[in-house]
Amino acid sequence: SMEHSGGGASAHGGHARQEGAGRDVTQLIADPDRPADIAVTVVARKQRFRLASGRAFEGYTLNGQSPGPVIKATQGQLVQVRLVNESVPGGITLHWHGLDVPGAADGVAGVTQDAVAIGKEFTYRFIADQAGTFWYHSHQMSHEQVRGGLLGALVVTPPGKSADASQTIDVEALVHLYNGVRTINGREGDVPVRVPPGARARVRVINTEYGVMPVWVSGAPYRLAAIDGTEINEPTPVQDKAVAVAAGGRADIEVTMPEDGSPVRIHLGGPSAVVLGSTSHVPPPIPRPAATLDPLTYGTRAPLAFDPGTPDRRFEYDMGRRPGFLDGVPGLWWTINGHMYPDVPMFHVAQGDVVRMRISNNSGEAHPMHLHGHHAVVLSRDGVPATGSPWWVDSLEVGVGETYEIAFVADNPGIWMDHCHNLPHASEGLTAHLMYE
Ligand code: C2O
Ligand code: CU
Repeated sequence: SMEHSGGGASAHGGHARQEGAGRDVTQLIADPDRPADIAVTVVARKQRFRLASGRAFEGYTLNGQSPGPVIKATQGQLVQVRLVNESVPGGITLHWHGLDVPGAADGVAGVTQDAVAIGKEFTYRFIADQAGTFWYHSHQMSHEQVRGGLLGALVVTPPGKSADASQTIDVEALVHLYNGVRTINGREGDVPVRVPPGARARVRVINTEYGVMPVWVSGAPYRLAAIDGTEINEPTPVQDKAVAVAAGGRADIEVTMPEDGSPVRIHLGGPSAVVLGSTSHVPPPIPRPAATLDPLTYGTRAPLAFDPGTPDRRFEYDMGRRPGFLDGVPGLWWTINGHMYPDVPMFHVAQGDVVRMRISNNSGEAHPMHLHGHHAVVLSRDGVPATGSPWWVDSLEVGVGETYEIAFVADNPGIWMDHCHNLPHASEGLTAHLMYE
């Protein structure tokens, strides 16, 4: 099912993001009396297991495998995931990266719940109200547990068939490093997927790594259909340009297969690829193109449902680095506005606020910033305004010396993390919280 989910008809550009347009947050809280549409049990274990290639790895599994099962839902369905910890020391949780679930289901140990100890379980319930590509992972000792394999793909497809009757073949491509070995859906090397000539495929790329992952395509032009689970408005065909996927981020790549039956290669960070088409003819890897697509200018501008020009709050999020002590340990730690977590003041908001945040990186290293519970729209980078499709993110790579202006609507009450998804950085100071008053 990882490589070929039949019947995956997805609307093309079908769901624009509607933050600030009266989204009813109470709808997000799953009514305890409503039966689940999708019910999954995942059992976590610490164990030695084999990757699809046969290589052994000492880590963690969910239902005996890593990545864990692909969780699929249709937009609007109630998803219920029962997490059982059979043997993972230190406790575990599951966080639904990129899906704006209610606070109680966010899965952050020590903030929204206690970690689930060995022999215990926890049930998450949320309505999958956004269609898009997401992933899930443990949020307890995240660096060690995510690296070790407590993760999986989460895909929400739009309901019904699109007006445009053509079928799209959906492919998940979760890229993860196990002990430095790069895998796609737990496999080393190419992942072949049969797609008929003329058919359309959507490859849902998920970058679980700590650095940016370039994705490029040979054999056909492609469209960057979505970033971080949000459709790009009127994406145009791209050729000879890579897409940079932030750590924790996702990119949906859409390809229409050539009529002559020749295959298409979606390169994921290196020579290995998802190979669409006939499995009998595998084209060789091609080098990464020199140019990279810039989401700031890609797609066609559509109006936002709120006005970021008149925000209720303005925040600065200035990342730096300085020597100091963290939990009594001396080191060179990351800072936010000069403070080191846990001494970073919270960002306070009230329900309905339009929030504008300036994120600047004066720390000497790049940071993929991940905001929980919300998506933010990118307004500008280094003073250059966004002119393309509204570019919504939950995972934004902020390069060395860069400054981004982003905006979002505070429409999901709770306490939410805003941290670097280069996970060692998050535990070395680069963590802040957004808190509703
Ligand atoms: Cu994907 Cu706070 O994490
Ligand atoms: Cu970082």
